[in-house]
Amino acid sequence: MIAGNWKMNGNYAEAVVLAQDISDNLKELDPQTTEVVVCPPMVDLKGVGAVIDFDHAPFALGAQNVYYQISGAYTGETSPDMLKNLGCSYCIIGHSERRMYFHETDEDVNLKARALMDVDIKPIICVGEPVEQREAGLQVSYVLSQVQGALKDIQISKGDELVIAYEPIWAIGTGKTATPDDAQEVIGAIRDELLQLYGVVANKVRILYGGSAKPENILGFVGQPDIDGALVGGASLNADAFCEMVKRVDGDNE
Ligand code: PGA
Repeated sequence: MIAGNWKMNGNYAEAVVLAQDISDNLKELDPQTTEVVVCPPMVDLKGVGAVIDFDHAPFALGAQNVYYQISGAYTGETSPDMLKNLGCSYCIIGHSERRMYFHETDEDVNLKARALMDVDIKPIICVGEPVEQREAGLQVSYVLSQVQGALKDIQISKGDELVIAYEPIWAIGTGKTATPDDAQEVIGAIRDELLQLYGVVANKVRILYGGSAKPENILGFVGQPDIDGALVGGASLNADAFCEMVKRVDGDNE
């Protein structure tokens, strides 16, 4: 899976053009082999969704955030049902930027995951350690505690109901990537944790790497035993770079 996180960039017209370019570029893609998701800003979901519908584009629509209540007096928030209604099948939650700037906790992430799964939207649950934890060698225990918090009381049966994205904070938007071995160390530990929680179905949960992923380094990550793709920030704003990553991964899958 390759998921693009457009973050808070561009305007409505640019979002539609980017979606159209990605659609034109990926015409031959078989979504059964490599699943592609784009996550535009909230205000662009409808326009990007229209491009996907009109073109029968081989990628899915995702949001970057949600609130966990169904409806009511929550000024400025967006419910899972509202996202569903716009055609979202995925939603990023717990991104480190949301944890850092908007004080999102593991408990919030858990409530959001459950609310999304109640309406059959698949959460892309982001976890990842700050640089201090990495330097102290505590990355695995830090990230596993985030995973445990996010998945509290959540059951899965097929494994594709949720996605986990491991994004070491020090590698996001910095141009500094983790090495594939660094990423595998933590993602392998996440897989083991999921196996303990859910049994063999855990092998079907997609676990992505995120943090300065680009065409030149993507195959190093997906070549690791437990890494099933990438959550891409900066490089997802460029249709050529994003599609090149998808094609490299797709070629590798065949
Ligand atoms: P980046 O962002 O690819 O620009 O490092 C990744 C992310 O934050 O999801």
